[in-house]
Amino acid sequence: MKIFITGGAGYIGSHTCVEFLNLDHDVVVYDNFCNSNYETLQRVESITHKTVTLVEGDIRDEDALCKAMVGCDAVIHFAGLKAVGESVEKPLEYYDNNVQGTLCLLRAMRTNNIKKLVFSSSATVYGNPQKLPLTEDHPLTTTNPYGQTKLMVEEILRDLYKSDSTWCVSILRYFNPIGAHESGLIGEDPKDMPNNLMPFIAQVAVGRRDYLSVYGDDYATPDGTGIRDYIHVVDLAQGHVKALESLVVPQYTVVNLGTGMGYSVLDMVKVFSEVSGKEIPYRIVPRREGDIASCYADPTLAKKTLGWQASRTFKQMCQDSWNFQSKNPHGLNV
Ligand code: NAD
Ligand code: WQD
Repeated sequence: MKIFITGGAGYIGSHTCVEFLNLDHDVVVYDNFCNSNYETLQRVESITHKTVTLVEGDIRDEDALCKAMVGCDAVIHFAGLKAVGESVEKPLEYYDNNVQGTLCLLRAMRTNNIKKLVFSSSATVYGNPQKLPLTEDHPLTTTNPYGQTKLMVEEILRDLYKSDSTWCVSILRYFNPIGAHESGLIGEDPKDMPNNLMPFIAQVAVGRRDYLSVYGDDYATPDGTGIRDYIHVVDLAQGHVKALESLVVPQYTVVNLGTGMGYSVLDMVKVFSEVSGKEIPYRIVPRREGDIASCYADPTLAKKTLGWQASRTFKQMCQDSWNFQSKNPHGLNV
């Protein structure tokens, strides 16, 4: 198949390109590099010994999209802005990029009669969990503009499918992706101050930051720090392969991609410190606004409908993140 991957130069997108290329699919990456770089795609090519077709462009440019996707069979849509805090500061930019951009993409797909789509949604659409583990039928709500964009796109896709039931739509709600490709060539590479826990810890370990701020130790969890369902990015990428393979008949499917296991902030500090051999100094600071105590998936539906389940352990995730960070101490932008 020829697969059109928006945001394919980003963290999850680049790992997904590797999985599809390894299966001999053709990959067209469409990315504006607002949060990524060319080097990543070169590394994808050196891992796979395959060529990626790159079209540099913005998903809000419908004409450019229309031309770029000619001849493609399916779309995997990663492109978007993802920083929760920034979305509160700049809601219009987030709605424009993530919602308006997706509308352009869907129109371009319709023009080209491409009706297979895998969309990156997020566990953020569950809001503050009413019960754990989270199943796909949990009530949906959001607490910030980023989450709202994900929920809006899910609803747009549902309405699109209702209006034309020849579409094949798979919505994947990711939990917390971490880890890196085993080569250490690609991984999470934030351009500025990391927003998320793993890249922050990795930068402390490699000496780029002095200490980790732990956002609260008074949650109702065993050690008081927040619990999340961390999933290895390669498992996640393989979930996209399974999702696309499942789109052989028209559908609108929503599935969680998580492991079903929860680890706390201090669990990550401990395991990362063990695998890296580095001390991770940390300070307990007040809770971060909008954070929840615990969040983890019920991954049963993904196993049932996609035949997919995560296989990599939490320790492996930490090892692979450290492998990438230690081989690329300043990231890929230098
Ligand atoms: P990322 O920032 O590394 O990748 C996104 C890519 O999209 C980047 O290469 C960026 O340059 C590109 N992009 C952004 N806006 C664009 C535009 N208007 N036109 C073209 N390209 C554009 O992020 P990621 O972690 O790989 O996330 C991928 C997707 O998964 C996003 O939609 C994100 O919201 C979603 N998601 C991520 C997480 C996570 O924790 N990383 C969790 C749940 C969902
Ligand atoms: C994990 C835990 C923090 C940083 C976010 C988005 C979500 C999804 C994934 C896209 C929490 C604690 C963190 C730090 C800390 N993204 N923490 N010190 O908040 O679960 O999810 O990324 O869809 O939408 O909200 O992930 O990695 O930021 O935090 O103590 O410097 O680590 O409080 O308990 P989160 P995270």
